[in-house]
Amino acid sequence: MNREQWSSKLGFILAAAGSAVGLGNIWRFSYVVGTEGGAAFVLLYLVIISLIGYPLLTTEIAIGRKTQRNPVGAFKALAPNSPWWLVGGMGVLAGFVILSFYSIVAGWSLAYTAKAITGFDATADFTGMFVGHITSLWPPIIWHAIFMALTIGIIASGVVNGIQRASKILMPALFIIILILVVRGLTLPGAGAGVSFFLSPDFSEVTSKTFLRAIGQSFFTLSLGMGALITYGSYLKREDNISDSAAWIVGIDTAVALLAGFAIFPAVFALGFEPGSGAGLAFMTLPAVFASMPFGTLFGFMFFFLLAIAALTSAISLLEVVVAWIVDEKGWSRTKAAFTLGGIIFLTGLPPTLGFSVLSDIKFLGMDILDTYDFFASDVMLPLGGLLTAVFAAHVWKTKNAIEEINSPKGVISFGNWYTVLVGYIIPIAIAIVMIVGIYDKVI
Ligand code: PHE
Ligand code: NA
Repeated sequence: MNREQWSSKLGFILAAAGSAVGLGNIWRFSYVVGTEGGAAFVLLYLVIISLIGYPLLTTEIAIGRKTQRNPVGAFKALAPNSPWWLVGGMGVLAGFVILSFYSIVAGWSLAYTAKAITGFDATADFTGMFVGHITSLWPPIIWHAIFMALTIGIIASGVVNGIQRASKILMPALFIIILILVVRGLTLPGAGAGVSFFLSPDFSEVTSKTFLRAIGQSFFTLSLGMGALITYGSYLKREDNISDSAAWIVGIDTAVALLAGFAIFPAVFALGFEPGSGAGLAFMTLPAVFASMPFGTLFGFMFFFLLAIAALTSAISLLEVVVAWIVDEKGWSRTKAAFTLGGIIFLTGLPPTLGFSVLSDIKFLGMDILDTYDFFASDVMLPLGGLLTAVFAAHVWKTKNAIEEINSPKGVISFGNWYTVLVGYIIPIAIAIVMIVGIYDKVI
C-alpha cells in the first residue's frame, strides 16, 4: 500500500501544531511559570525554543521526510546495520509511556469539562474536589477510557481522514476559545498585576533549576525527542518546504503558550489568587477563579473544553508514532494496530491512575506512579532522544545531507553553516549538561 501523505502544506502544519499544542502549553506551562517566578522564566524559555527547539524540530521533520519511515525505520534507512535504530526504538517507547499518563490528565480535563457544565460554586472546596476526583476509583479510569477511545478512533481513520481532518477542525476551535479567554482575563478589573507578573522579568529569581525547567518544558511542549515529528514528517510531500513549516509550528506552539499565560495570570491575580500552586493550578486554582467571575460557568466550561481539545490533537500524535512503527515494521493493518496498541496503552495507564487511590503506597524516589512515568519519559528519554538525534544528524547522516533535505525546495528561511555548529556541537553539549544536572538533582 502507498504511504499516505498530508493533502496540503497547511494540513501538515496544522497536524504538527496540533501535536505540539497540548497540555504542555496550558496546564504545564502555566504552573511552571507560576512556580518559577514568571517573566524571567518565560524569557529563558523563548531563547531555548529558538536556539534548540527550532533547529531540532526541523531536523526531525527532515529525517522523516527523507526516509518516509517511522522513527525505527528512519534510523535504519539512514544508518543500516548499526545500532542507531535504538534511538527510534526509545522514541516509540517514550510515546507509549507518555500517552499512558497524558491520557489520565486529559481525562481529568474531560471530567472537569463535565463538572463545568453545572458551574463551579464559589464557596466550594476546590482542592478537596480535585483530590476527591483523582483519589476516587472509577471516574478517572472511565474518563481515561473515553479519552483513549477518541484517540484510537481518530488514528484508526488514517492520516488524512483521521489526523489531518481532526486537526483542521480542532485547531481553529482552540484558537478562537483561547482568544475569548484572553479578552475575558485582560478585561477583569485588576488584571494588570497578572500582566506584569508575566511580562516584567525579575532575574534575581533565576537559578540553575530555572534553566533546567525551561529546557524540559521546551522539549515537552514541542513534542521533541521521541520521533513524533519524524513520523509526521514521513507523510510530508517532497514539494513542501521544511524550514518555513517548522517555523510556523514553533510559532503556533509558542503563541498558544503565551496566550494561555495572558488568559490565566491576569484572571488569577485579578481575583486575588496565588500563581505558585504548582501542578494543581489548572484544576484547583482556576475553578475558584471561574466561580468568582461574571459568566464564570461559561468561561470555565470553555477553558476545560479547550484543554481537552488541545490534549486530543497531541495524544493522536503519540499513538501515531507507535502505530506507524508496527504498521511499517511488522506489517500490521492500521486498524488492528490502533485498537491493539491503544488498548495496551490504556492498561499501562491504570497503574498511574491507581497510584492516587489503591496504589498510593507505591513511591519511586519520592514520586507517585504518574510522576515516575513522567520523569522517565519526559526528563530522561526526551532530552536523551533529542541529544542523540542531533549527534546522529550532524555526524552520522551529516549536516550537508540534512541541510540539503531541509532546504529543498527553498523556503524563506535557509539553513547554512550555523546549523552545523548548533546541531553538531552546541545543542548536544547543552542538553548533556542539563540532563546530568537534572538527573543528579532528582536522584541524589
Ligand atoms: N507537545 C505536547 C504538549 O505540549 C506533548 C507531547 C509530547 C506530544 C511529546 C507528543 C510528543 O502537550
Ligand atoms: Na506544546
